[in-house]
Amino acid sequence: MVLAIPCYPHSCAFIVKSYGKKEKLQLAELPEPVVKENEVLVQIHSAGVNLLDSLIRNGDFKLFLPYKPPFVNGHDVAGVVTKVGSKVSRFKIGDEVYSRVGDYRIGTFAEYIAVNEGDLALKPQNLSMDEAASIPLVGLTAWQALVEIGNVKKGQKVFIQAGSGGVGTFAIQLAKHLGAYVATTTSATNADWVKKLGADLVVDYKTEDFETLLKDYDLVLHSNREYQNP
Ligand SMILES: NC(=O)c1ccc[n+]([C@@H]2O[C@H](COP(=O)([O-])OP(=O)(O)OC[C@H]3O[C@@H](n4cnc5c(N)ncnc54)[C@H](OP(=O)(O)O)[C@@H]3O)[C@@H](O)[C@H]2O)c1
Repeated sequence: MVLAIPCYPHSCAFIVKSYGKKEKLQLAELPEPVVKENEVLVQIHSAGVNLLDSLIRNGDFKLFLPYKPPFVNGHDVAGVVTKVGSKVSRFKIGDEVYSRVGDYRIGTFAEYIAVNEGDLALKPQNLSMDEAASIPLVGLTAWQALVEIGNVKKGQKVFIQAGSGGVGTFAIQLAKHLGAYVATTTSATNADWVKKLGADLVVDYKTEDFETLLKDYDLVLHSNREYQNP
């Protein structure tokens, strides 16, 4: 997404003016972000919209992440580096990058964002900007759960709840890549899709009970919740 409204020398952004489920993001002009020595300035081409963005807008996360309105929301981004801080070593102007930006440095629903180089990676060339911006938060969540914490090994049995969701779709593919046997829950309309992603066993959570169907699993990714309408 490149905004069609030219704001130069300012940066256009969608701001959360106050917390609330019904609050709409508002377009505003902001000064170009200040780039610290270990940060790069990214011109945003695409921003992913994640459940976390809704929860933050609603105010559901303000005890953990007390952002003070007005603020720019948004965690996932893909774009092009347009400035580098004096201590940045891994990126240069013109690099195509993607990121889940750090907490307290969010604000990807904008034209520009300053990102710590430690939170950035080069965008794989075979991904479009839109594709790249859809990955970081769900991808890192799945990676942390299955690789860093779960240490999933070839041949293990992994149960991934909510397989058709943002985290679930990524987690199924990652678990299969790691060599696991994968069971997942989804509703009937998404059953074929999660099978295409690699799921070996699909449980329809609306008509079946996974607790009686599944036994002896090595790891469960418990990623569904009392679902609130974001
Ligand atoms: N998104 C992230 O980056 C992220 C990061 C950390 C943690 N989380 C947590 O992970 C969970 C899932 O997030 P998400 O972003 O992946 O959600 P999502 O994209 O909104 O997907 C939710 C999925 O849950 C499925 N579902 C609804 N009720 C279910 C039930 N009773 N049993 C099994 N599946 C059910 C739906 O499947 P059908 O359409 O097939 O019915 C839907 O596809 C949430 O608890 C979230 O807080 C998310």
